[in-house]
Amino acid sequence: MVKTRKLNPVIGAEMTGIDLAGPIGDNLYNEIIQAWNDANGVLILRDQNITPEQHIAFSARFGELEKLEGHTVAKYLLPGHPEIYRVSNKVIDGMPQGRKGAGTYWHSDMSYSRTPPTASLLHAIEVPPYGGDTIFACMYAAYDALSEPMKGFLGSLQAVHDFAVASKTGFRNEVITAGNLNVTPQQTHPVVRTHPDTGRKALFVNEGFTSHIQGMTRAESDAVLGFLFRHSTQPEFLYRHSYRENDLVIWDNRCAMHYAVMDYDGVHDRYMHRCTVIGGPTA
Ligand code: OGA
Ligand code: MN
Repeated sequence: MVKTRKLNPVIGAEMTGIDLAGPIGDNLYNEIIQAWNDANGVLILRDQNITPEQHIAFSARFGELEKLEGHTVAKYLLPGHPEIYRVSNKVIDGMPQGRKGAGTYWHSDMSYSRTPPTASLLHAIEVPPYGGDTIFACMYAAYDALSEPMKGFLGSLQAVHDFAVASKTGFRNEVITAGNLNVTPQQTHPVVRTHPDTGRKALFVNEGFTSHIQGMTRAESDAVLGFLFRHSTQPEFLYRHSYRENDLVIWDNRCAMHYAVMDYDGVHDRYMHRCTVIGGPTA
């Protein structure tokens, strides 16, 4: 029996009683989407003992998948399955099994791309006994909590997103080359987005990838973004997910940001597979 349970007042719910290794009819798929939207864009499907093919097949129900070939992270794709990006601190025979420390900064996946992803679907294959959580921020709640004058002001702004920003934060351990920047150029997106399915507005700036507000001086932009980064990561807007093995976490990059907590390296192994659904232009 399918059951949905909220995990947090603001963002995040779990669903049990679903097996993605079997067929998922349209009714059940629609129920999953409804629960995902009701949970403000973070839904955990528990107990998914699935193969990469099954992970890919279910993810593809959401839309076309990223393949990330030519991207700076291409070496972390699962061999034979370019739709799967591996996030892991494991090293076997000197070979990294995935991107270590991926996402250890507040971000919305690939917001530096022209068509930022709608959904990301992360399959937790090997999880530490504690630690290695992912924190999610509800960007609907962050927007809703702003005053009307601030909402009006932000509504007219566009922000520039740039993959190179993440390398400057010091969280990244890889240098972005000019060649990489060709496949990840700067992109401009509205500071406030309206979610096409829910019709609700959400803030769309993140410390990891948002460089500046278009048309502002550096000082103005830093002040506005600094406020928005602090504002949107208040504890009241957050859900911190502690993984169980075979959780499949589906997050909506249009209305949620996330932060991968790197507190397990050197102590425990963690191995995850991510599928990423390509979105459309934001404006
Ligand atoms: C990601 C990411 C979160 C995590 O895969 O996009 O940010 O906790 N990972 O591994
Ligand atoms: Mn991420």
